[in-house]
Amino acid sequence: MAIQANEKPLPCFFFSHGSTAMLVRRTGPAAYWEQVGRQALEQGVERIVIMGAHWETLNDTIRISGNPKPEKQPVAWAHPREYLDFDLNPDVEFAPVVEGLLQKAGFDATIDPKFEQIHDTFIILKWMFPGGKSLPHVVVSHNARCDPHFHLRMGAALRPLRYQKCLILGSGGAVHNLYRNAWPQAVLYRDSMALTRPPEQWAIDFGEAFSDVVTKNSGPSLRKGMSRLMSHPQYRDAQGTDDHFMSALFIAGAAGALEDRGTKNYAGSECWELINMRNSQFQFGDWPHEPRVTPVLKSMKDVETTR
Ligand SMILES: [Fe+2]
Repeated sequence: MAIQANEKPLPCFFFSHGSTAMLVRRTGPAAYWEQVGRQALEQGVERIVIMGAHWETLNDTIRISGNPKPEKQPVAWAHPREYLDFDLNPDVEFAPVVEGLLQKAGFDATIDPKFEQIHDTFIILKWMFPGGKSLPHVVVSHNARCDPHFHLRMGAALRPLRYQKCLILGSGGAVHNLYRNAWPQAVLYRDSMALTRPPEQWAIDFGEAFSDVVTKNSGPSLRKGMSRLMSHPQYRDAQGTDDHFMSALFIAGAAGALEDRGTKNYAGSECWELINMRNSQFQFGDWPHEPRVTPVLKSMKDVETTR
């Protein structure tokens, strides 16, 4: 297939997708994802490669989505009308390109023709493309061993795609521990956003540490900083399991090469859910053309609440 090139690398993004309520609530992050989608179209992006947090493969394997008509797995707290009609537009033609880059880098990567799409990726895509159809995209799994360096290397292997009109995205969670969330407001009232008390200090502190690593590092120090977060004293409080952190490492791999030294990384919009879940969004590197940074809503007052 013919692949277009761009001179300057496209930015990468790490998105915290939060709970499934984020599919239907128009939050600050949802508005931010929409802005990123609009920017992507304006800047000539042609396709997306995304790693989520819910597609996990065993042993040393990696899988790549190659199903031309993937089913959408059911989404808790969201009526099917909210997502069933959204056109995922899977890029089965591009999947072998992704597979080839990963194999060349030594990964046991293969295309999965029976892939089913999970909400961690299509929550993001649905908001990015409110017209109802995603840009063509490929999903890559993360590996269940949750080795930070493995996922950094995966991102590094796909970094060349940033020069090929391809946006590399990670969908996970900056502070995402289901065991430490407060569930009553969501279970009793279906309101995951109700902050009946302040978040706990560990959630605030780890979220700040995550943001510091992103915004105060570039190049290889970004990769080191992101992997070092897994040794942070509050890491296990903030990440009950490692699955929602792997795509952050993947993005640090894609955005933290020697050539990325000196580039800027940005904290975008965020919201809190279930008291302790911090849904922070980050941009790594600039858009090739102005505006170089995806606009951030100044406050939740700027968000139109539709529900
Ligand atoms: Fe998730």
